[in-house]
Amino acid sequence: MKNVKLINHPLIEHKLAILRDIKTEPFQFRMLIDEISYLMMFEATRDLALREVDVTTPVTKTKAKKLSTKLMICPILRAALGMLDSVFKLIPDASVGFLGFQRNEKTAKAEFFYAKLPSDHKNRTAIIIDPMFATGGTAIDAVKFLRDNGVKDIKFISIIAAPEGLKRFSEIYPDVDVYTASIDEKLNEQNYIVPGLGDAGDRVFNTI
Ligand code: URA
Repeated sequence: MKNVKLINHPLIEHKLAILRDIKTEPFQFRMLIDEISYLMMFEATRDLALREVDVTTPVTKTKAKKLSTKLMICPILRAALGMLDSVFKLIPDASVGFLGFQRNEKTAKAEFFYAKLPSDHKNRTAIIIDPMFATGGTAIDAVKFLRDNGVKDIKFISIIAAPEGLKRFSEIYPDVDVYTASIDEKLNEQNYIVPGLGDAGDRVFNTI
């Protein structure tokens, strides 16, 4: 799975250990999601295109580089809202394209219910964010939705992923890079990631 990029960093490993802990309180959980996303975003944007610009410093005129890629961050509702601020800290002028999926507790499948993209979405690189990459079903539906709407360049950032989901996704979208900080052991019968961290949305929004 050449499209799967495992981000290894001691700071991320340390923060992940606290994030997974059942005793971690919601306020600290939110802070950790924010910090880990920030560190991952830094790595996932490594290949963004730059353009040369003229800059006048207090000392002289010089050439410098600015981003030439226009970004659209696509948080998958609702857990990914906990990752959004960290993206804005790094790329304040990114646009946001919301993608709404809700887990059907009977089927354990995510169902699409809402989308709101910026008007120029076709000209933007999409970075889909979702803290958990479980069966890959939501990820496949989200990429399909964006592709059907003319978005060509797409990346995915997920803090924790299950091998089953990564495999399923990569067979369909080998051209979409998935950045993750951990490839966990497996999915359980309820499609929760093992060891995982439980329901990310519930832990971010304290709705357990
Ligand atoms: N979504 C979650 O929030 N947690 C999982 O383990 C799987 C999907």
